[in-house]
Amino acid sequence: MNINSAKFEISNSNVKKCPATCKHEYAFIGRSNVGKSSLINMLTGHKGLAMTSSTPGKTLLINHFIINDEWYIVDLPGYGYAQRGKKQQAEIKKIIEDYILEREQMTNLFLLIDSRHNPQKIDLEFMEWLGENGVPFSIVFTKLDKLSSAAGKIQTAKYLAVLKEQWEELPPVFYTSSTDRRGRQELLDYIEELNKLPVGCQDESTPEE
Ligand code: GTP
Ligand code: MG
Repeated sequence: MNINSAKFEISNSNVKKCPATCKHEYAFIGRSNVGKSSLINMLTGHKGLAMTSSTPGKTLLINHFIINDEWYIVDLPGYGYAQRGKKQQAEIKKIIEDYILEREQMTNLFLLIDSRHNPQKIDLEFMEWLGENGVPFSIVFTKLDKLSSAAGKIQTAKYLAVLKEQWEELPPVFYTSSTDRRGRQELLDYIEELNKLPVGCQDESTPEE
């Protein structure tokens, strides 16, 4: 799939204020600093589209980007950033959970994992929560440019082996780097396939029969 246009549409803290149209959307989630916003910029080919930062906790809102005037990419705040303080962490958790549970047109959630890290409790628990709530998701390993090719293979295989202890079947897995753009085509092809499925919501502008 080609990306012909990618435009920021709206940011907000409330799922009820997200765009009222009924289009496929794909949200990106993961721990703060895992590379969500960078991946969105890499996928769309627009460097400054989603705001990135070396300081964790940059993205605090639900950000909608309209792609090819047809579907949405959604940049979500990162979870598990301890320095935020309890109150802000709880607020962000609520924004994320409400969005994931209520947004019917969210066709797939891409859960980003830093390929250098061993499985962390917070990510495993988040996946469990997704499973319990029947949320369709995929795993996206990020920052593979930071590891040698051999180390990347070993580290991600180790990660998946831990997941296999918990899950009967693994979700789709993608291997990416926003720096060298690997994984871009695979992710866009996957989205293209999912875009062919019916959207999980009903357009409010369509009159009821
Ligand atoms: P929050 O919005 O704070 O939750 O972070 P985020 O997950 O959106 O991360 P962001 O894209 O802002 O990236 C965090 C840092 O990691 C930045 O300094 C990026 O330049 C760097 N980074 C992101 N992706 C990659 C990658 O694939 N390779 C390398 N080498 N660095 C990356
Ligand atoms: Mg971000």
